[in-house]
Amino acid sequence: MPRGELLAALGDVDGLYCMLTDRIDDELLARAHRLRALSTMAVGVDHIDLDACTRRGIPVGHTPGVLADTVADLAIGLLLAAARHIVAGVDYVRRGEWRTWEPDLLLGVDLNQATVGIIGLGGVGQAVAARLTGFGCRVLGYNRTLRPEVASLGVEQVSLAELLRDCDHVVVAIALTPDTRHLIDGAALAAMRPHATLVNVSRGGTVDQRALAAALKSGEIGAAALDVTDPEPIDPNDALVGMENCIVIPHLGSSTVRTRTAMAELAARNLIAALAGEPMEAVANPQWRDAGDRHD
Ligand code: DGY
Repeated sequence: MPRGELLAALGDVDGLYCMLTDRIDDELLARAHRLRALSTMAVGVDHIDLDACTRRGIPVGHTPGVLADTVADLAIGLLLAAARHIVAGVDYVRRGEWRTWEPDLLLGVDLNQATVGIIGLGGVGQAVAARLTGFGCRVLGYNRTLRPEVASLGVEQVSLAELLRDCDHVVVAIALTPDTRHLIDGAALAAMRPHATLVNVSRGGTVDQRALAAALKSGEIGAAALDVTDPEPIDPNDALVGMENCIVIPHLGSSTVRTRTAMAELAARNLIAALAGEPMEAVANPQWRDAGDRHD
């Protein structure tokens, strides 16, 4: 819904079901005098001012749990596509340049037996780790807090510096917060291996895209694949879109019929429950109940 229309429609609503493309900020909440519950069809809540919702006593529902496996599948697909030049190979055939088998045509970097780093060891990060064991990878993980449970997935928790230094491939699956904005900046890219692949399935803002374009151009890293960009949609003339060693797709991580249906239904159940005065199945600001400033 265009923002102007959304703002205009909010005066009478008790509940709001929103998408990750809707910015839920103080301006919007101030217009929604009756709002008692908010539900987003996404696990990521970086588009919502959670503190502002909590101050107003508004619970925010989201969709953890139902999409991690689907996003992890796509992360592996992107990793293979970038490291093994699958998209470049398709383009090569389409351009009619395929003449013969050549020993050094579009040589890639293996995923099997590689050392792979996962930044962010929540649901998606853990689902990526589970898949990597099947490729015989050594898996390093970085998370802001220790996650002892990942040891059973074969993940060695290390510092971000160690992960960037030692990995052939790096998957970013960390939530976007003020602390993780541009976590992968010029210095982080410079610390990576020259053949390394970077995959981002979290939010575009976790990677400094100008620095990434420079790193891909100079050969500081080998390839990148982005499911998410900052902004979305990315400008089709952005340097990253035109680079042969970069794949950009339009935020498709959870885009399967089964998973998008599960997300839509969970978001609906969250909203209906909250409006009925019952607990949401998944609430992003559990402290909402403690807020003093209720207006209903
Ligand atoms: C989410 O739910 O936050 C995902 O990015 C949607 O694919």
